[in-house]
Amino acid sequence: MNLDGLVVRTARIEDYDTLMKLEQKLIDAERPLNASLKKESAYYYNIEKLIFDQSSRLIVGEISGVIVATGYIQVRHSKPALEHEYHGYLGFMYVAEEYRGLGLNKVILQDLVRWGQSQGISDFYLDVYAENNSAIRAYEKFGFKSSLLEMKLDTKL
Ligand SMILES: CC(C)(COP(=O)(O)OP(=O)(O)OC[C@H]1O[C@@H](n2cnc3c(N)ncnc32)[C@H](O)[C@@H]1OP(=O)(O)O)[C@@H](O)C(=O)NCCC(=O)NCCS
Repeated sequence: MNLDGLVVRTARIEDYDTLMKLEQKLIDAERPLNASLKKESAYYYNIEKLIFDQSSRLIVGEISGVIVATGYIQVRHSKPALEHEYHGYLGFMYVAEEYRGLGLNKVILQDLVRWGQSQGISDFYLDVYAENNSAIRAYEKFGFKSSLLEMKLDTKL
């Protein structure tokens, strides 16, 4: 596998059904990392909003007309205590299994960060499960550093 013929473009409403399916694949990939995820009808994103909102950019990587990667950035208000008023929040990072490890996520991140910079953003955040080693490695290689650590107490256990 290689990335020959890769086209990176903004998502269109015609992509909606495919994006809904890829969202489920991403959620399935994260199920082993979070026992609290609903077994059915779990959704993360408002895909229509990500496509149409001016404050977000949802992109896809396409090879031979097939969407093999996704990612979005959303300009969000930052906490009042922070120096930056706005930040870029990144999500829906998904690469089809057969294209992983080829730097495709890096291409997606580069596009999204550049777009954020063009909107005046210089601080970028994302959430990743602490045990998602391949994702963490990909983000660290891009330049991300660990910041906040979410802790959870499950009193049902
Ligand atoms: C996380 C994910 C998006 C990374 O996409 P990717 O295109 O494979 O990532 P890249 O090829 O750009 O990775 C960059 C670096 O991460 C490392 N890396 C990525 N996947 C790896 C893997 N499976 N094993 C080891 N290292 C890996 C590589 O070292 C790579 O650097 P290199 O190209 O210099 O060798 C992809 O693995 C994926 O879709 N996973 C399932 C969904 C998911 O967990 N999404 C993240 C939610 S936060």
